[in-house]
Amino acid sequence: MSRLRAAAALDVEGALKQVEAAIAQAVDCQEPLLRQMVAELVRAGGKRMRPRIALLAFDACGGGEADLDKVVDAAAAFELIHTASLVHDDIIDQSPLRRGRPTVHVSYGTPHAIVAGDFLFTQGFALSGRLPKEVIRVTAEACVRLAEGEVMEQRLLAEEVDEESYLTIIAKKTAEPIRACAMTGALLAGAPKEVVEALGHYGLEIGIAFQIADDVLDIAGNPAETGKAVGQDAKTGVLTLPVGLNEAGTDPGWDAKTFRSMARQTDPEELRRLLQETGAIDKARGVAQKYSDRAKARLAVLPPGPSKDALVALADSVVKRRS
Ligand code: FPP
Ligand code: MG
Repeated sequence: MSRLRAAAALDVEGALKQVEAAIAQAVDCQEPLLRQMVAELVRAGGKRMRPRIALLAFDACGGGEADLDKVVDAAAAFELIHTASLVHDDIIDQSPLRRGRPTVHVSYGTPHAIVAGDFLFTQGFALSGRLPKEVIRVTAEACVRLAEGEVMEQRLLAEEVDEESYLTIIAKKTAEPIRACAMTGALLAGAPKEVVEALGHYGLEIGIAFQIADDVLDIAGNPAETGKAVGQDAKTGVLTLPVGLNEAGTDPGWDAKTFRSMARQTDPEELRRLLQETGAIDKARGVAQKYSDRAKARLAVLPPGPSKDALVALADSVVKRRS
């Protein structure tokens, strides 16, 4: 702790506005249709959780004004890469809705959606490319894990998935990029190695909690709040934790294959009732809480300050989230 400078009291909301400006600039291009597609995506917003984590980690590790532009670029890059991966994920998952609007492939067709995603990836990496080598390495590694997680999930769609494989998939497809955001903030603040690692663990664990909360929302969420169709993962056979934890409609255990094939054919309302009755939804929420608590404990390496408090609050909010 003594090797960290005191937190610099960054104006996080102000810095997030700079991130929005960097994103807006990055998605400008000459082709009107492409510009329209990506502008709609960016306008649809999102939680901006990844940029927020990068900025908070930077400030909590004592990052100063001189490096603010770098962390703003990194935060914008992570959001662009994340948005790109969602455009492609929605094609793969055949999802009709995202952030309360028709998905890009529904509005503009799959060929255009593929290219829009590629464009966003490219612009994300154009921003990352200006950053120190270690940040580029961490970002590229997270993207490798993202791709591995997405393909592993699809490869195992019709296979038995044990608890360990389930956790590997969600760590790769969701938590690794969040880990990279937290590490990047710490790296750009010049934090010592053990602090960068601790922040990395925080990101990984908060990311796992976030994805489990997402899994619960797939079953028990309100589309008016989530902006996504309910039961989409269940319908397409993507394993979610409440489904994995449900054992033949009785006591929650792990019996993913049997129940998953049944979940595919079950009406979303009926599935929610069943998983609520068996306690699988509550049990999944409990697992998310466990990861959120672990994430918070990682922050012990940081000196007290508003950004540390905000990182703690963020770990609490991912478990409680309704959207
Ligand atoms: C959402 O999960 C999926 C992701 C966050 C990962 C998508 C990754 C890719 C398409 C691969 C990207 C490739 C590279 C090279 C970076 P979900 O379907 O459970 O969540 P959802 O309910 O929000 O759709
Ligand atoms: Mg999806």
